[in-house]
Amino acid sequence: NSLKRFHTFKINAYAKKIIIIKSINDLIKARKKYKKIPILFLGEGSNTLFSKYYNGIVAINKIKSITITETESNWLIYVKGGVKWHDLVIYTIKMGIYGLENLAFIPGTVGAAPIQNIGAYGIEFKNVCNYVEIFSLIHNNIIKIKNKNCMFKYRSSIFKNANYYNYIVLGVEIKLSKKWIPNISHPQLKNLELKNLTAHKILNHIQIIRKNKIPNLKSVGHSGSFFKNPIVNTKTAMKLLSKYKNLPCYPEDNEHVKISAGWLIEECQLKGYKIGGAQIYKKQALILINKNNATIKDVLKLTQIVQDRVKKKFNIFLELEVTII
Ligand code: EPU
Repeated sequence: NSLKRFHTFKINAYAKKIIIIKSINDLIKARKKYKKIPILFLGEGSNTLFSKYYNGIVAINKIKSITITETESNWLIYVKGGVKWHDLVIYTIKMGIYGLENLAFIPGTVGAAPIQNIGAYGIEFKNVCNYVEIFSLIHNNIIKIKNKNCMFKYRSSIFKNANYYNYIVLGVEIKLSKKWIPNISHPQLKNLELKNLTAHKILNHIQIIRKNKIPNLKSVGHSGSFFKNPIVNTKTAMKLLSKYKNLPCYPEDNEHVKISAGWLIEECQLKGYKIGGAQIYKKQALILINKNNATIKDVLKLTQIVQDRVKKKFNIFLELEVTII
């Protein structure tokens, strides 16, 4: 029951049992069969690391389907949680439905997308979500949660709350306007020309950026961004900026600024830094990679070093983006 091939960091960890869920019926049956044993749901495991033996059942969500309906002005795309997020992005673009292109090449499943409100290049899941459909493992019923009740924030949502421990995300409905307006607000998309811009062009551009910065999961294990970009108040950001002129900052709201954790880590001279088999990726300091059979001990030690150094130099605490079970 090794979890190695069920999470993208590919650390050798074990669970009591691993099951594959292909329908709601499988889910209900599993719940009945293993009544008292905790169940953990995983999609691609691209944001999850296991720190020790998991004394429960790991259920891999493979419930898949995509249904498209429309209103006069919108496309409504209902997707089951087991579909790979990037496959959904490509499918919609092929169907001539645009609006997800900025979120291309993000690893993980559709079911995981709302939990941490995935985001990249100026768009977050919350900008395209209509509702999230969840399944109660206690009552075996389905509930729809409207976007405004999901409490989406930067890499967070209501589903991260402990009260949602007994719910799993079954599906989501995405709402995209039929009138496509490209979003090139992100600094790294600014050099795209608005004239004759297509979703395909944005997709290709993002593929090139990501290829350069994010290691290919086929050859090296990792979990994408390992830390969150810290959000600080404007005063703190101004103070930092007066000392570090090229600190990348993004306005979050009127009083807060998001600063680049990758830059902070790089500034601590940690790019390429290694502990055992775990390493800070040389091309993007926000990513920790499984360079050579890393153990969870290596990863936790490296995490600690990064947090300590950044805290010491900038007085900022870096929160983890990944979930460690
Ligand atoms: N930077 C450095 N050194 C580094 C890394 C970054 O100086 O080692 C600087 C860059 O030069 C740039 C800024 O930091 O000015 C931002 O870097 P980048 O565009 O690579 O994005 P990020 O803030 O590191 C976030 C998301 C990514 C998402 C990108 C693009 C988080 C935690 N990460 O990364 O999401 O793809 O923006 O929008 O918010 C993920 O969540 O797994 C993920 C990959």
